[in-house]
Amino acid sequence: MKHVLVTGASGLLGLNLALTATQSGYQVTGWSGRHALVQTPFAAEQVDLTDLEGLPARIAALAPDVIIHCAALADIDQAEQHPGLAEKLNSQVPGVIAQAAKENGAQLVHISTDAVFDGARGDYRESDVPNPINTYARTKLAGEEAVAAAYPQALVARVNFYGWSASGQRSLAEFFYTHLRAEQTVNGFTDVYFSPLYARHLAQLLLLMVEKSLSGLYHVFSPQATSKYAFGVSLARQFGLDESLINPVSFADAGLSTPRPLNLSMNTEKLQTVLDAPLPSEQEGLQALYEDALAGLPDKLVAYLA
Ligand SMILES: NC(=O)c1ccc[n+]([C@@H]2O[C@H](COP(=O)([O-])OP(=O)(O)OC[C@H]3O[C@@H](n4cnc5c(N)ncnc54)[C@H](OP(=O)(O)O)[C@@H]3O)[C@@H](O)[C@H]2O)c1
Repeated sequence: MKHVLVTGASGLLGLNLALTATQSGYQVTGWSGRHALVQTPFAAEQVDLTDLEGLPARIAALAPDVIIHCAALADIDQAEQHPGLAEKLNSQVPGVIAQAAKENGAQLVHISTDAVFDGARGDYRESDVPNPINTYARTKLAGEEAVAAAYPQALVARVNFYGWSASGQRSLAEFFYTHLRAEQTVNGFTDVYFSPLYARHLAQLLLLMVEKSLSGLYHVFSPQATSKYAFGVSLARQFGLDESLINPVSFADAGLSTPRPLNLSMNTEKLQTVLDAPLPSEQEGLQALYEDALAGLPDKLVAYLA
């Protein structure tokens, strides 16, 4: 049985991934930072990743076969306000983890982001040149580069996703769901495009990529791009909620302080060719989100936070 270390196991992707890997028969250790996890079906530990000197020894002691590095300073506004911490977590930590993975003979999957692009054009391929426009994106791109330099055999997966989280408020899906269920109006951007996968589908794809020993850079996204407004409307329809509560607005009208890329539609041809299979559609993703809610996943995740 392969032993998988998932960093960021209290976060949106990490927790869904640790649970999916456990259900798929892997031995899983999940590392979280400030938030302790309790009663998870996988081994959970709190490890401060900013302790760069102690990190290699901790990885060597655990001796995982696979490391999936999800931890990051992933909040765009927080990264803008704390550039030093963003640089340490998003740029330096990946390099240290990559070096340790290489020295211990572990497979590494490093999670990166569509935000490395400026969003001026869309349909981005792995061969397109990134042009980050905020601190989060700049530090994540530097993280990709540090991983590639330390451990060229690592897999770098650029992703975007939505799902249920332990905090109940980490993803756009939770934002729309929470407000619409409370019959509150919300704004949805009609001119911001993204290509998100449902977190459980993304987790399954990442594990499949591990099994296939893929390495190098991959775009792991929904094959269909959608505006944030249209995503909210589709979610409302899936959950039987009132879509008229979503106001279609332009990004320029929102007055957000941190610059954000507008068109992050992503090209996934490279991955689809390697897998020789279609990626989950937006409709399949929203249906799985809905079915997991009916099965009680949101409450289960919240209960894992101590
Ligand atoms: N969310 C998105 O839509 C999105 C889009 C594109 C790419 N990504 C990338 O996907 C990955 C996962 O994102 P996410 O949204 O799941 O993140 P998240 O929910 O914000 O979780 C971040 C995780 O990192 C951990 N962490 C932060 N600082 C740490 C530290 N000093 N030591 C140890 N752990 C620490 C957090 O642990 P504690 O909370 O316990 O401290 C948490 O588990 C990131 O690499 C992100 O850049 C996310």
